[in-house]
This record gives sequence, C-alpha cells and structure tokens, in this order.
Amino acid sequence: MSGADLIVVVTGSIAAAKACEVISRLVQGGHRVRVVATEAALRFVGPATFEGLTGLPVLTDLFAPGAALEHITLTRRADLVLVCPATAHTLNRLAAGLADDFPGALFLAHDREKPWLMAPAMNPAMWAHPATISAVARLREWGVGILPVGSGRTACGETGEGRLAEPAEIVAAVEAALHRPVRRLRVLVTGGGTAEPIDGLRVLTNTSTGATGAGLVDHLRRMGHEAVWLHGRRAVQPAAPGPTEEFGSFADLDAALRRWLGGTPFDAVVHAAAVSDFGVEAIESGGVVQLPAGAKLDSQLPLRLHLRPHPKLVDRLRTLSLNPHLRVVAFKLTNGASPAARAEAVGALLRRARPDWVVHNDLASRGADGAFPADIFGPDGTLARHCPDRRTLAETLERLLADAPT
Ligand SMILES: Cc1cc2nc3c(=O)[nH]c(=O)nc-3n(C[C@H](O)[C@H](O)[C@H](O)COP(=O)(O)O)c2cc1C
Repeated sequence: MSGADLIVVVTGSIAAAKACEVISRLVQGGHRVRVVATEAALRFVGPATFEGLTGLPVLTDLFAPGAALEHITLTRRADLVLVCPATAHTLNRLAAGLADDFPGALFLAHDREKPWLMAPAMNPAMWAHPATISAVARLREWGVGILPVGSGRTACGETGEGRLAEPAEIVAAVEAALHRPVRRLRVLVTGGGTAEPIDGLRVLTNTSTGATGAGLVDHLRRMGHEAVWLHGRRAVQPAAPGPTEEFGSFADLDAALRRWLGGTPFDAVVHAAAVSDFGVEAIESGGVVQLPAGAKLDSQLPLRLHLRPHPKLVDRLRTLSLNPHLRVVAFKLTNGASPAARAEAVGALLRRARPDWVVHNDLASRGADGAFPADIFGPDGTLARHCPDRRTLAETLERLLADAPT
C-alpha cells in the first residue's frame, strides 16, 4: 500500500535524530506524514526539521489555538500511528491511559482497528525496569505493536538492550502493518509446550519449539491480520510485534484460553500448542506423599510421580468462544506412524473435537534443515492441502481461514 496518512509521534529520546531518517524514508515512500512531537522531543530536534521533512507544522500543544480538536480529527484520518522513538516515560504514560498531553489524548481517541506501533529507545536499565516491562505487556495486550529494541552500546554509553530499532526495520514494520487484506482476520494462535510443575524447580515438559505457531503468527501479522500469540515459556518468538501472552502449565493455558476466547470475538483459533497429556497429581518422595510445586525435592530419595490425564483443550475451544462460528484448526503429531495409523489418528481427532481442519505432521519427516512437512485435512477427513514447509503451511492456513464463510 502506498500513499497512506501516517502520524509519527516523536518523544524525548536522544534517538529522536534517527526518527528524522524514518520520517524521511516514509515521505519518500509516498506517505503523508504528520509529526506530533512532545516538548521533550523538541529539546532534541527542532520543529523546523520536522516541518522541512513533512511540509507540515509540528503538533505539540493540545490546547493550541485553532488545533484544539486535532487529536480527534487527525486520528480519524490516519491509517497508522507510529511512536518513534518511544521513551520510557511515554510508554508508561500511555499504558496508564493518561491524556494530558498530545500523544496521550491521541492514544485514547485512536481507532483501535488501525495499527498503533511503538519503537522504544532508552537506557538498558529503563528498558529492564518492572514498570516498563509491565507497561509494554499492557500495551501489547491492547493490540499495540511494540517493535523489538536493539542491543549493544546505547547513546548514554551503557551496553545492553534498549537501542532504537534500525530505521529500515521501522519502515518495514510500518509497511507490513499497512498491508491490509480484504478480510482482516482475528486469530488466536497457541504454540510451544506446557510445563507441569513437579516441585518448585522441576517440570514435566516436551520438546515443542513453537516454531510452527510463531511462523503462522508472523505471517498473519505481516499480512495485516490480528494474531494473538499464546506461547509456552521456551517457544521461539515471531519477529512481527503484536499481542502476546506466555503460559506455563496446562492450567495456565486453560485459563488463558478461557479469558481470550470469552473476551474477544476471534474468527479462528489455531491450536498448535503441545499440551501435556498428564499433570502431576501427587509426588511420593522417600515414601512421603505431597502435592506438586512445593519445596525442592531431595535428589537422593527415590521419587514416584502420580500423574492424572488432562482433558483435551481442543475439544472445548468452540464452547468457550464468544464467536459461535469460531473456526478451529487442530494439530496432530505422530512419530513414525504408517499411513493407516496417521489416517486413524487424524480421524479420531476429527470425530472427537470436530475441528474445521486438522494439521498433521509426523516427526520422522522433519528435515535436517528444520523443514516440517504437514498435511491439512478437512472435516470429512479428506486431504485438503500438502504443505512442504512451515511457510507454505502459514500461507495455506491464512487462505483457508480468509475464504471460510463467516
Ligand atoms: C540527553 C537526554 C537523553 C535522553 N534519552 C532518553 C531516551 O533515550 N529514552 C528515554 O526513555 N528517555 C530519555 N531521556 C529522558 C526523557 O527525555 C524524559 O523522561 C522526558 O520526560 C520524556 O518525555 P516525553 O516522553 O514526553 O517525550 C533523555 C533525557 C536526556 C536529558
């Protein structure tokens, strides 16, 4: 998409100078850019620079004569808002919903169907502060795209995470967010493995990497869809920013699914998480029975775990959903199964959970290069598509979901 209306909010970081390059590239890309700068930002870069780059005066004062309703009219017109650089102060202010300056008022008045991206830049200690961490998590939950920060030597002379992303990466994120499909899907994707507590340190888990789910989330976000990523602790992460939540145990994932599906009308859920079939009910250490997740167990004593089977989360996804027409994509992994055994495993899942599609992989067909072929089966058990790798799988699932009747 070219020729979009963009708002770039510049805040008071030493990286404000780099925002000029981002603005310049966006203008050269054919976009109309309006700059909103905080008072602190104007201590780093003068308004004449922004005006020269965009051809339009900079907005700073919420109460400026003649511009008193600009925070509403601007945001109605804009296709996307980018905060670049985003200071710790502005991240925290927006996460608190404060609206006593231009960016704050703009944020609350913003049409949340449209992308709001933030490219943070700050000292590593500010980035690692719990206040900033929870502000970022909160903003992500609200659908704000937080771009990844760079690591290395920051302008203040310290080394660590917190550098502004490179201008080219920021512009690429803007272009990706502007790339709107005809039908914008809202999809919940789960991925990675659960971890069942044994004692306070040890867990029962599996080898899932989360790569399939992360690849799908990345693809959906790059194509302009909204994808919420619900992932296990050690799962790989998508590069494209968006709403994200981590889960630990089966119980955590169960609670997160209830909350997300009950609170947001998703079009589809793609349940690629590797959920533990068993949870630890009790532990017998040295003959003494205790509950899981307690004190560290004595490694010298014989240990017995009492496991109980978990219910299948995939079976109840539709009943938890605010949208009664939720599309469900289930996954079935086999290991060295014969074609007949594969068909039986897929058929059993279709009969039990009644998903719209089942994605089947067999561990034995995973390539040395990490490629993981998959077959997608329709509700009647017939093969809908063969996908040689994760990328094709992501593209195919997107098409199937977008083409599915609502
Ligand atoms: C030289 C200098 C550099 C600064 N760089 C940053 C920075 O990179 N990131 C940040 O979060 N704050 C930085 N600050 C602090 C902010 O400017 C300050 O918190 C300000 O209130 C931010 O206001 P704003 O978010 O409304 O623009 C810097 C301050 C100074 C004096």
